[in-house]
Amino acid sequence: MGKTIIISNRLPVKILKSAKGELVYKPSEGGLATGLGSIYRKGNNVWLGWPGLSFKKDSDKTEVTQKLKSENMFPVFLTAEEIKLYYEGFSNETLWPTFHYFNQYAIYKKSLWEAYEKVNKKFCEALMEIAEPEDTIWVHDYQLLLLPGLIRQQMPNVSVGFFLHIPFPSYEVFRLLPWRKELIDGMLGADLVGFHTYDDMRHFLSAVSRISYLSNKRGQLTKGNRVIQVDSFPMGIDYDKYANSAASPETIKREVRFRASLGDQKLILSIDRLDYSKGIPARLGIFDIFLQNFPKYQKRVSLILIVVPSRDKVEKYKELKREVDLLVGRINGRYGTMNWTPIHYFYRSFPLEDLSAFYRMADVAMVTPMRDGMNLVCKEFVASKLDKKGVLVLSEMAGSSKELSDAIIINPNDKTQVVDALHQALTMPEEEQSLHMDTMQATLKRYNIHHWVKMFLDRLEDIKERQQSLATKRIDEETVQIIMDKYTKSKKRLFFLDYDGTLVPFYSRPEQASPGKELLEILTSLTENPNNHVVIISGRDRKTLGSWLGHLKMDMICEHGVWLRAHGEEWETIDSLSNEWKSDIKPILEMYVNKTPGSLVEEKDYSLAWHYRKVDPGFGDLRAREIVSHLKYLSANMNLQVLEGDMVVEIKNIEVNKGKAACKWMERYPSDFIMALGDDWTDEDTFKAIPKDGVTIKVGSANSEAKYSIENHTGVRDLLGLIAKNK
Ligand code: UDP
Ligand code: G6P
Repeated sequence: MGKTIIISNRLPVKILKSAKGELVYKPSEGGLATGLGSIYRKGNNVWLGWPGLSFKKDSDKTEVTQKLKSENMFPVFLTAEEIKLYYEGFSNETLWPTFHYFNQYAIYKKSLWEAYEKVNKKFCEALMEIAEPEDTIWVHDYQLLLLPGLIRQQMPNVSVGFFLHIPFPSYEVFRLLPWRKELIDGMLGADLVGFHTYDDMRHFLSAVSRISYLSNKRGQLTKGNRVIQVDSFPMGIDYDKYANSAASPETIKREVRFRASLGDQKLILSIDRLDYSKGIPARLGIFDIFLQNFPKYQKRVSLILIVVPSRDKVEKYKELKREVDLLVGRINGRYGTMNWTPIHYFYRSFPLEDLSAFYRMADVAMVTPMRDGMNLVCKEFVASKLDKKGVLVLSEMAGSSKELSDAIIINPNDKTQVVDALHQALTMPEEEQSLHMDTMQATLKRYNIHHWVKMFLDRLEDIKERQQSLATKRIDEETVQIIMDKYTKSKKRLFFLDYDGTLVPFYSRPEQASPGKELLEILTSLTENPNNHVVIISGRDRKTLGSWLGHLKMDMICEHGVWLRAHGEEWETIDSLSNEWKSDIKPILEMYVNKTPGSLVEEKDYSLAWHYRKVDPGFGDLRAREIVSHLKYLSANMNLQVLEGDMVVEIKNIEVNKGKAACKWMERYPSDFIMALGDDWTDEDTFKAIPKDGVTIKVGSANSEAKYSIENHTGVRDLLGLIAKNK
């Protein structure tokens, strides 16, 4: 088994230079580093990333490399220019604001983008020094969105996971980025793409669909020959670490010391990195209104405001710092007295024991970001409450609000609501506090960081297995021989043949695809053999197929299984199929025909199809995406399915599919040789229905449930022609 390589922009340790010029190693702040920091040393893991600073001296680089290597870390050194353009610039002035819905702060500059591309390549080169084919590579966060794609170019089969620690914005916001396509393609280099919440995942899938024209089925999509899984994995914390730290004598000693200097008053806690996404000024505004509206709390409650320095060279962060300083000064100036300070403000980071003491002491934690991928601070607060006393006020804009529904959930833009929530928190009876804490602790204990890592890596392994199971073997002389042997030894044979794309090529108008002389001859000789039972299984309507092939001795399954006819018998259909829905859906498809020159609607008995083969390629795909999302939304309660075929979107009843129809036929005509051929994903249902010893052949190159693949309809005709020559 290979090793696991974690890659993120920042390593879990960062290096600073002391006043004397010595290198000082400190833990990094931020959810990614603290979350993964406690697990990466386990097993066979290594971590590759930037150690902070830019080093000019080679001797410093050597020292750092050696020191980090002894702790399973590998540094990627960045120059001062790269830090400015890639880290401060594209990562934190373009991507961060866009992904947090602060797009008015985003800077779009080509030079920043070029640096971002360059540094992603640099990370890839560093990775190639240590990666081996059996390894699992796990890339983290928005600074390295291009890296999965770059790795895929170098190591096509290696296992790559990607996890985004910040929100993925709605398509309408993401599309603002001039480099949106490159970013999506970069992420799709991974085999598994993970997000904190279902909404992030949904937004990503919508962007993929709109930008790269790839649709998904339950989060699974196919790019070229590779299946990719997209899913949500809410990140947990190292619960025991925080619970144990809260119980440690050192923490308790610090709590006693802090308490002594603060006196007997209620404490509200606020801990964040300096970041506009965290809503710090708004929180200060709430505290101000609260002291005004509830004057009896003056001198009886204080806010401990911890702001951890972050990205302080970036202009918007500098502005924010000035704003926070000003607001704190204003509130303390307005309400403060000789022996009461409303806000105890710290602009620095703290060691774990201090943080644990703050978490223990606080009566209320105010975690009210405007937008946050997950937010671990609120989880750490809950885990530290060993006596189960304390209340969490949590923004619904934080990913963690999806799991911690026992917190007081607020909208940070609704000032009245947040002020009331703060009052409710300060007056909540202790029994109620315990009840809520108990529920939240149980959730966090169970869904801890170890669980998160396991879920992600297990899923990555699953998808690699799935890729292998979908890999088809190209038909060659040897496989043809195997098929022939099976065929000649059997007495009762059943063939399921798809029509368009399998027996005939695609034409710009569906009615042009009539079978030519060659195909009719092959099918005639195949069907003349009394041991062969041949079924055409197609999405086409029965009238067309009947007129083209009805004279042959073959059965027909049309409209993906709506209509079925054994040779010489009457057409039969599935009972109780309704098509009343057509009057609602048809006008919508016609509206899209009006908007999309070259497209057309085909009406079948129990389905409607919107064809776009003649539409400008990119434009047709774009419209197809719109139709699919429009119809999926509309048809949610109508028992319909929206299928995407080759240049066609088809809407039909959910009960109908080729697999069900094939099963019916296999029951009716028991056989000792079953063969199925098909080219698009509606044929996948047929392949799935065929027993393991059957011969299933996918036409084309994509992954499939089929055992074998064949290049195109010409290959199919050659193969069927060969088979037909045998008895
Ligand atoms: N943190 C820290 N030092 C401090 C204050 C906070 O290391 O002085 C940690 C905190 O314990 C938490 C992380 O920084 O684990 C912040 O993560 P979160 O997900 O809440 O927000 P992010 O900074 O990732 O946006
Ligand atoms: C967030 C991001 C991380 C980042 C951290 C600290 O948690 O998701 O990728 O490392 O903030 O930010 P910094 O810019 O100091 O690395």
